[in-house]
Formats: sequence, structure tokens, C-alpha cells
Amino acid sequence: MKDASPQTIYLKDYQPFPFRIERVDLTFRLAPKTTRVISRIAFAPNPERAGRHDLFLHGEKLRLIAARIDGADVPAALLTVTDEGATVAAQALPDGPFLWEAEVEIDPEGNTALEGLYMSGGMYCTQCEAEGFRKITYYPDRPDVMAPFKVRIESDMPVMLSNGNPTASGPGWAEWDDPWPKPSYLFALVAGNLVNLPDSFTTRSGRKVDLNIWVRPGDLDRCAFAMDSLIRSMTWDEEAYGREYDLDVFNIVAVDDFNMGAMENKGLNIFNSKLVLASPETATDLDFERIEGVIAHEYFHNWTGNRITCRDWFQLCLKEGLTVFRDQQFTSAMRSEPVKRIEDVLSLRARQFREDMGPLAHPPRPSSFVEINNFYTATVYEKGAEVIGMLKRLVGDDGYARALDLYFDRHDGDAATIEDWLKVFEDATGRDLSQFKRWYTDAGTPRLSVSEDWRDGTLTLTFTQMTPPTPGQDTKLPRVIPIAVGLLNPNGDEILPTTILEMTEATQSFRFADLASRPVASILRGFSAPVVLEREVPASERAFLLAHDTDPFNRWEAGRALAKDVLVRMVTDDDAPSADYISALGRLLTDDSLDPAFRALCLRLPSEDDLAQTLAEAGRSPDPDRIHTARETLARTVAERLVRPLALTYDAMADRGPFSPDATAAGRRSLRVAALGLLNRIDGGARAQTLFDAAGNMTESAAALACLIEAGRAEAALPAFHERWKGNRLVIDKWFMIQVVHAAPHQAAEVAERLAAHPDFDWRNPNRARSLLGGIAANHAGFHHASGAAYRFYADWLLRLDPVNPQIAARLSTAFETWARYDADRRAMVAAELQRIRSAPGLSRDLSEMTGRILG
Ligand code: ARG
Ligand code: ZN
Repeated sequence: MKDASPQTIYLKDYQPFPFRIERVDLTFRLAPKTTRVISRIAFAPNPERAGRHDLFLHGEKLRLIAARIDGADVPAALLTVTDEGATVAAQALPDGPFLWEAEVEIDPEGNTALEGLYMSGGMYCTQCEAEGFRKITYYPDRPDVMAPFKVRIESDMPVMLSNGNPTASGPGWAEWDDPWPKPSYLFALVAGNLVNLPDSFTTRSGRKVDLNIWVRPGDLDRCAFAMDSLIRSMTWDEEAYGREYDLDVFNIVAVDDFNMGAMENKGLNIFNSKLVLASPETATDLDFERIEGVIAHEYFHNWTGNRITCRDWFQLCLKEGLTVFRDQQFTSAMRSEPVKRIEDVLSLRARQFREDMGPLAHPPRPSSFVEINNFYTATVYEKGAEVIGMLKRLVGDDGYARALDLYFDRHDGDAATIEDWLKVFEDATGRDLSQFKRWYTDAGTPRLSVSEDWRDGTLTLTFTQMTPPTPGQDTKLPRVIPIAVGLLNPNGDEILPTTILEMTEATQSFRFADLASRPVASILRGFSAPVVLEREVPASERAFLLAHDTDPFNRWEAGRALAKDVLVRMVTDDDAPSADYISALGRLLTDDSLDPAFRALCLRLPSEDDLAQTLAEAGRSPDPDRIHTARETLARTVAERLVRPLALTYDAMADRGPFSPDATAAGRRSLRVAALGLLNRIDGGARAQTLFDAAGNMTESAAALACLIEAGRAEAALPAFHERWKGNRLVIDKWFMIQVVHAAPHQAAEVAERLAAHPDFDWRNPNRARSLLGGIAANHAGFHHASGAAYRFYADWLLRLDPVNPQIAARLSTAFETWARYDADRRAMVAAELQRIRSAPGLSRDLSEMTGRILG
């Protein structure tokens, strides 16, 4: 009998594990279908849990060959083995410390879920976070059980790696020793025919660290940027946080089959190859920026995640929110701070606000889950980072630095909680953070409305906050909201520099007295809190801020809001595109004092999904076709009216001299391709064709290909691109994605179906599956086309993926999370697809939880 519906796990049920682990010894005899894992684990009673306890060890998909306690076989009657693990009855255990030994057999080649030990392109690799170690051997697979590990690998692979430092090796074997106690989710092993880019780093206290990036033989020429990023990350973490690396080696391995971006295993980070490999010809500027950011992210986890880990998976944002915050700081330091902030807010709104406003809304620290893999979300990661940004704004830079020093001092070696985290801020700054904690425990995006009153030289701003209900949380208490405000006088001079107003009530007023004339308020500067600002602002005031705001984020935001107002009116009232908006854009475009990357962001129109969300929030059901048409019309009108400055910009931003991936050069290219995207609407693809034929870098080549598709003249370019790049999996991923993202709405499902039948559509590879399925989901009007063809196509693929790789299927299912926004016909079609998925026999816990929550 299959077990009943999957269990829900609750934060409130947390109990420490009844045993501690003193050390772990693992031996791996690798073979594709029959790998032997021999474990020796020294347990001792945990004084925090008095009395005698059974020993429960997680274990899934393991063939148990032998189990011994202190050298004697565990009597069959005292050992219970289920699908989830093994239990040794208390009476089989000695009173004090004991040694558990087990021998199991596993099948890496048959492991298509890519969790635990699996094979990718002939190499062995692992992914254990969150709960993959239990597919390797029997173990208390929970983050609060930490131990030092010794690992011996036996295989005929030339390179064999694990965590920690290498201790000895010989023909056919290698041994590793990781002295730092760690939870099992940070375990890693790699064995394969790999080559390395070596380098080294000397920490500021003088430890020399050998650095290596390991890749498949043909890929060695595309590792230099990742190595450079690693060295800059190590330097920055010493300078900004005083954190040094703590082993003699740091290894990074790139694998082609990987469920997510990358993983911070102690001393042995494993990466999706798309986040390591880059050359100007094969990687876009966005790829370069992501590689730099993710290399930094995983490296920073060494302190925020590994040295200090999480007590349980409910605390995931303790390490992820903080590490994202740190990698954002790093990127701002390496590139442009305002540009990075705008990019982060764009992605927060596109992914996290969308999540927070739908059926999958959950707090950064959830209080229950069915499958933890479903909680590696934008809310845990990106909102987790925003919450830390607010904390820093509230306590100031000094307070933040003191709190972080205390955090590292007090909790090094711990499995900590959000309560521990907040306590260091309270102790370091003397603040009471009990109300602030709601940001961690409550779901939903607060809406902040503002009204202004001007009299007798005093400006009064009155704010009201309201957070709509989210699943399981009907009523919300007011939160602490740091609102950054600046005031400008009518000629554009700043009369009040950025000041943080601290809102704690549901409604609260702030007064600015002794003003000579009525100022213009710039509110929520730098996006000082993750809220939706609801404010009726006349277009003239937005245009004023777009021209004069001294805060670059709000300057961009003013233009963004203008564009959105224009588009919404085009959709709802058939308005013509506003001339004021377009001339404001024109002035910005030609303002050479502005960073090209910033100008490029200003040229980018709000996405169709963003407009659909805005309309839904205003209580209208968004019509994807009308939204698409309005956005196209606006883009075309902008191109017509600004054709000269756009064409000049396009030419002026051409690369001069050799390619550089740095922020300045990337910013110029981003402005160039933004101009191209608009001009393409009126030049019939002429510029795109010229660029496609001549482009020396992937940023321009991919942008030109997208333009040719949109212009309906890609018949030659698509096969040429494929022919040129057929040997490069990462570039062929782009080839798949570009075609579906840029397909005309009524053809999108058809294009996707045709591509799914292409011999290169290796759908078991997560990157390839995401290119096609993520691509169609990103084509808003195509995915939501009235025929329902894309919904059907998508659901078919989720059903096909689920038995092979449930994590990927569950992740992709979030494409449906916005279904309740749309009209009754579309809702009925999506609901039918979701029901069809739910009724499939043997549905995974992952996809069953997701579809259940999405349906609500
Ligand atoms: N800890 C990894 C990172 O943020 C991601 C692990 C994702 N794991 C998962 N099961 N989805 O860098
Ligand atoms: Zn992370």
C-alpha cells in the first residue's frame, strides 16, 4: 500500500535530536549502478534530551546490506526499516556513546531526480541540500546535527574530491578530512574525468589557499572569469565583513545536470555549469553578472550558512536572506550601486511580489511545509535579503557592523534561528525588535498609501499601511516600515536630504516645518522597504522627479510609474501613448551625464506580467492580448518619435576596442541593445540583421536573434545560430529559450511543441527543460493565449517531468500561480489542468503540495 497523503511538518514541533555525533567516517566504492557506501558514525547521548531514545536515521532508496552497533549486527527484531529510514530500538543501544556502522548500496546512474549521489555526463556528483544525504546513507539528516567528516573514495576516476582538505591518495583512491563540524546537507563528493584551472589566495592572516575550478576537458578556456570573481569575493569578505577562509583548499566543480544554480558544500562548491563557464562569444553580460554574483554568494555561505548554519529548515532565510544581502552588497561594490538596486527591485517585484500576492504566499520564515524543496523561493531568498536591508537602515551602518560582529562571535559553530539573529541586533544596538520580527513571520506585501497636506510652511505626510490577507493569515498587525524621504524644491534643489521615517502604526503622520515653498516629496527612496506604494501622483510631478530627483532609484521609479500609468490607460481606456512620457524619455536617453546602464533601465518598458499584476490589483481582470498590443504600440510609438536619438545612441554605444565584461562596457551594450529593441519595431529588422551577422559577443548576438524573430525574419538566422553553437549546451539552451520567449502570442504553443520534438530537446537536463518551459511561461500573452494550448502543453510536460525529477516539475508549476487573476474562461482551463495533474497516479510530494496550494 502506498502511504497516505504526505505529512505536514511544523516549526512548533521542533525537538533537538536525542544523540550527538562526534565523528563520521565514510567510504565510497563508486560504481554507476552499484555504489557501496560504508559509514561509521560515533554517536553519544544528547544531554538536552534526557532519557533513553530509539535511534531514528533517515534513509531513502538505500539497499541495506549490514548494520552494526559497536561491532555487533543489530538484531533484526530491534531494527525497523521503512521508506523513510531505519529505527534502532532503544534497548539495542548502550547507555553511553556507541559506534553505528552501516553498509548500503545505491544506484547513482538511476538517480534522475539529481538529489543525493548521481551521475552527470559520466561524472559522479552530489546535491544534498536540503534532504538529499538520506539518499546516500542512513543518517540524522537535519541541519542541527553537526559533525566532522572523513571521506575515502575508491574509483577509477582520475579526480576524486570531497569536503575539507585532501589528506592522502593513491591509484584508485583518495581521502579527505573536513575538520569543521557540519550538517549533512553540506556534504559533497565529486569523481570524474575533470581538468582544473588552478590559482591561489593568501588570506590576510597568511593562510595560503589553493583554489581550483574543475570542469570537463573542453571547457577549461571558459573558467577565468569565475576564478577572478572568486578571488574578488574572498578579498571583499575580508574587507567588508572581516571574514577569512578556513581550509587549505577551495574547490569549485561545474556540472551540466543540476537542479538549481549552485551549492555551498564546505570547501567543495558545486555549480550548474551555466554559472561558471563564460567567454565573450558564449555568455551574455547578464550571464557574466550572474556568475560573479553566484560565485560570491556560494563563497559567502562559508560563514553565513556553513560556520553558522540553520537549526532547522524553517530558518532557511537565516542563511539565504543574509547571503543574498551580502552578494547584493558585493555586486554594488563591484559595479554600480543604483543600477544594482534597480535590477534587484525589478526582480523582487517580478518574482517575490507576484508570489506574495498569490496562493503561494508565505512568510520568509514559514511555520509549516510538506516538502522543503518547495520553499527555496523568492520570498525566502530575496525578501529575506530585503528584511536585512531594512534592519540595516533602521540601526544604521555602525549598528549593523556591531551586530554582525556579535553574530559571528556568538554563533560560530552553531545551528541558529531567526530569534538568535534578531537578538544580536537587540544586544548590539539596544533596540526592541519584537515588532520588526513580523517581517519574518507574516506573509504578504504591505500597501502603503500616502496623503500630503500643505499649510503654513508645513508639509505633513500621512501614511497608512495595510497588508492583504494571505493563505492561513487573515489579519495582519502593523509592521515597522523604514520610509526614506527626501524633499526637493520646485527648481529641483534638494532641501531635505534622505531621511528615514520610522513608521510603526497603522496610520502615522510626519511633519516637515519651516519650509519657504511647497516642496516635492520623493518617497521610499532607494526602495527602503518592500512595499507597494500607493500614491496618486500627477504626471507632471512624476516627470519632475524623473528629471530632477537626486535619488537615482526614485528617478528611475518615476519614469517607471509614468510608463505604467500610460500603459494602463492604453489598456483600459484605449488612450493614445502619452507624448509627455515619450519626450521625458527622449531627454533622458540623450543625457550623457547619465550612466548608460541606468539609461538602458529607463528605456525598458514594464513587462506584460507586471501590467497584468497591476490591473489585477486594481480589481480588473487583465486581458493578456490587449496588454501585449498596448505594450507593442507604446514601444513602436517611442521608436517612431525618438528614432533619431535612438539611432545615434545605437551607433554611439558600439564596442570600441577589445571586449570587457566589466560594468561600464556591459552598460554600454545594454543601452545599445535596448535601443535596438525599439528601433527593430520600425526598421523591419535591418539593424538586427547587420548586428547578427557581425556580432562578436553573445549579448549582441542573442539580442539580434530575438529582434529577428520579432521582425519575422529569422528563417536564416535560427539554423545558422544552431549550426554554429551545436557543440555548446549552454548556448543551445539560449537558442531554445529565445524562440519561445519571442514567439508571437498565437504561435507560442506551436513553436514550443515543435521545439519539444527537436532532437536536441534533452528534457531530462534541467537547464534544457527550463529553457523551453520557462521560456513559454515567460511569454505572457503566449502562455495565457485564449486557446489554452500553452496551458495544456505545459501541464503535459509537468506530468512527464514529475516522475523523473519532481523538484524541477514542482518549481516549474509556479507558472500557474497567477491563474486567479484572469477571466473565468482562463481560470477554468487552468483549474482543469491542475486537477488533471493532481489526479495522476504516483504524483510526487513536491508537485502534489504545489498544485494543491496553487488551487487553494
Ligand atoms: N543553498 C543553495 C544556494 O542558495 C541552494 C540550494 C537549493 N536547494 C534546493 N533544494 N532547492 O546557494
Ligand atoms: Zn544560498
